[in-house]
Amino acid sequence: MISQQKIEELQAALQELKAAREQELEELRIQWLGKKGEITRLFEEFRTVSPEQKREFGQRLNQLKTAAQNRINELREALDQIAGGGKASFDLTKPGDRMDLGARHPISITREEILSIFRKFGYSVAEGPEIEDDWHVFSALNFPPEHPARDMQDTFFVSPGGENPILLRTHTSSVQVRTMERQQPPIRVVCPGRVFRNEAISARAHCIFHQVEGLYIDKNVSFADLKQAILLFAREMFGPETQIRMRPSYFPFTEPSAEVDVSCNICHGKGCNICKGTGWLEILGCGMVDPNVLRANGIDPEVYSGFAFGMGIERIAMLKWQVKDLRHYFENDLRFLREFETVI
Ligand code: PHE
Repeated sequence: MISQQKIEELQAALQELKAAREQELEELRIQWLGKKGEITRLFEEFRTVSPEQKREFGQRLNQLKTAAQNRINELREALDQIAGGGKASFDLTKPGDRMDLGARHPISITREEILSIFRKFGYSVAEGPEIEDDWHVFSALNFPPEHPARDMQDTFFVSPGGENPILLRTHTSSVQVRTMERQQPPIRVVCPGRVFRNEAISARAHCIFHQVEGLYIDKNVSFADLKQAILLFAREMFGPETQIRMRPSYFPFTEPSAEVDVSCNICHGKGCNICKGTGWLEILGCGMVDPNVLRANGIDPEVYSGFAFGMGIERIAMLKWQVKDLRHYFENDLRFLREFETVI
């Protein structure tokens, strides 16, 4: 029989309803709202309610019906969520999401290429710390005490005072010093690494860049050996037609010293805007290791001689791929990096 109490009981029972499967939910719906369901039956009994009670019972019954509908809908949503947003969007035959592969950075690609050329020539790879002391970056390399590179304007100091200031290395020649400390000749090493110089950032200069430097020490090493090593490297790197030329230069740690140009691989010597009309591109500095450097590092210059060279990886990469602005290497703009995706 219809009564306030019955309606209240049903209201409370609604909150307890649970459905773990679609079928259970359908059974609940039929049980509550179906043609022979609880609420439908109450609506039938409603006809027997006395006229003065009709208004109140009518309202309560309608509320109960809405509550039952809401509860069934709630349960349906919960079930849909468990199923992963409904049947339609759960397609097991769909291919999976593609995972984007990363690519190597042009500086890494170039470094590997340089190193693999020298590995073929019999060099091994040596690395050392980025935070160095004055001895390994300057003094052991024959820099006089008043040399401008030792100035704050050129070098970042970590702790500037004292006998042997701590600084960020300005070249990877420091690793060559560390190699000589450890090992007697024959020495054949290439030293890749990050270096730091106190320079304003522009299209052609950066305060952080990368180098590969090389050191070759043995008996009877001559300038001709140096020239041959550089020529072979240049041809491996820029193509078999490449020519080199050497211009006299100065470094405290080499004597004689030279700067090396390669024939422009874009215009093949005719002159273009990459080589600024000269037909030549500067790629590295080199020279015969100064006897003072050998002596400072415990190697007898009467017995041994050697050569050293050093190049900027950014510069080599710029020449190889005609990158016009050095800052591209550091900004990690994907449009730039993706251009190297297919370079292995
Ligand atoms: N260390 C020099 C530089 O950073 C390069 C170099 C290395 C020159 C070895 C000559 C010999 O500019």
